[in-house]
Amino acid sequence: PVLVVDFGAQYAQLIARRVREASVYSEIVPHTITAEEVAAKNPVGIVLSGGPSSVYAEGAPSLDEGILQLGVPTLGICYGFQVMAKQLGGEVAHTGHREYGSTPVTARTDDGNALLDGQPEHQTVWMSHGDSVAVAPDGFDVLASTDSTPVAAFASDELGFYGVQWHPEVKHSEFGQRVIENFLHRAAGIPDDWNADNVIAEQVERIRAQIGSAKVICGLSGGVDSAVAAALVHEAVGDQLTCVFVDHGLLRKDERRQVEEDYAKSTGVRIVTVDASERFLGALAGVSDPEEKRKIIGREFIRTFEQAERDLVAEAADAGEPIRFLVQGTLYPDVVESGGGSGTANIKSHHNVGGLPDDLQFELVEPLRTLFKDEVRAIGRELGLPEVIVGRQPFPGPGLGIRIVGEVTAERLAILREADAIVRAELSAAGLDAEIWQCPVVLLADVRSVGVQGDGRTYGHPIVLRPVSSEDAMTADWTRVPYDVLAKISNRITNEVPDVNRVTVDITSKPPGTIEWE
Ligand code: XMP
Repeated sequence: PVLVVDFGAQYAQLIARRVREASVYSEIVPHTITAEEVAAKNPVGIVLSGGPSSVYAEGAPSLDEGILQLGVPTLGICYGFQVMAKQLGGEVAHTGHREYGSTPVTARTDDGNALLDGQPEHQTVWMSHGDSVAVAPDGFDVLASTDSTPVAAFASDELGFYGVQWHPEVKHSEFGQRVIENFLHRAAGIPDDWNADNVIAEQVERIRAQIGSAKVICGLSGGVDSAVAAALVHEAVGDQLTCVFVDHGLLRKDERRQVEEDYAKSTGVRIVTVDASERFLGALAGVSDPEEKRKIIGREFIRTFEQAERDLVAEAADAGEPIRFLVQGTLYPDVVESGGGSGTANIKSHHNVGGLPDDLQFELVEPLRTLFKDEVRAIGRELGLPEVIVGRQPFPGPGLGIRIVGEVTAERLAILREADAIVRAELSAAGLDAEIWQCPVVLLADVRSVGVQGDGRTYGHPIVLRPVSSEDAMTADWTRVPYDVLAKISNRITNEVPDVNRVTVDITSKPPGTIEWE
């Protein structure tokens, strides 16, 4: 792999993604990693990420000096660039001059250096630093400078060491991806052979080795991750896999059919559906507090899933084959955020509705553990999954239950389901799927307002549209949906959905608002 050394800023995941976009496999490691641990991973390249602080600050994250002695081609970025300069005998200075944001650099692009050769001499890059490299280490060529930073990039083709003061991984750096690709392919000579095909082949082999001839189960949520995880396992072990799909009655329109028909048909996965909508509605009766609703839905989900699991286990045991494995759609960001995640699985409670029981009697199979969301989608497409599944927006485990402000009832669910279907159809038709991260549609069931529809006065409920743009759902901005699209949505909802006489748009960013209303 290419190792991305994380100095604690928010950039390491982005760098790891950019490396993979260049078709090279990457892994994030903490900056506390030792030279021996690095060597054991047999890296073909190393990228040192940006970090929060000055290399001279107290408690500044450091790097085992042995790592730069291993002879592995290395690219230092921002803080990583300065760490490199310092360790290799250059000079890093407190200039007192901060560079932040879009900055013009002058680059040496005509001397055959592997990093910047062939690029424009003047380009705009994204900077965020206080200290600067004042003197490059001996034997290094200075490749770029800015008005206030004499050494904005350096290289030693001989040593295979490169560094840039700016952040090539962010989109604001004009030729950022080219810098990363040049480092990987030209400087370090790493082939671009990491792609969906290879990932599938490798995972299929791993899954077979782990599961052998045992039985395995998987809970399908209707979302992308569990759908792709199950499809991969099915590719590996076929009908040893059974999927359990809990219909809690809080799904969106057509979702169940898409899983049971489109998904099942395209993958051949065996699905057992448990229709538990009555049970969930019963448990939710009279409840309007959001946290209370979440708890109830989580609890009922686990009970339902466990019951289905017990039935299947009993059935399998009858046939002399107990179920030993459970598939989980854990993604790489979950693994990184829970501390690197080697060893035991660390499952976030929101990963599936309510998480898994503590006394889990299954060994976990997690074929997506090394992947980012966009890669999971690519693999799903390669496996032939329908676009309605792989292209799906994130949808919360508690479903429409937390998009009805007020008590959840069958009538209200029916209203929301229709409105939500209209919104999804119109946003897709307007070509906005790529721009919009997700668009919750919320029914303010406890609010009524006066309207006039047809010949008379109405006293109905408002619907709120919550279109947001985001990279990772941690922060988000409200999407500027064109007025004519909003007009169409508003018209259709008020005409086609009973009891709704008003459509509003939520224009709050996150923070301060969360994406969901509850
Ligand atoms: P918030 O509302 O916290 O949502 O800004 C951030 C992202 O998480 C999703 N979400 C959930 N997903 N179970 C889930 O699986 C949940 O209980 C849950 N609550 C929120 C939300 O849709 C958004 O993508």
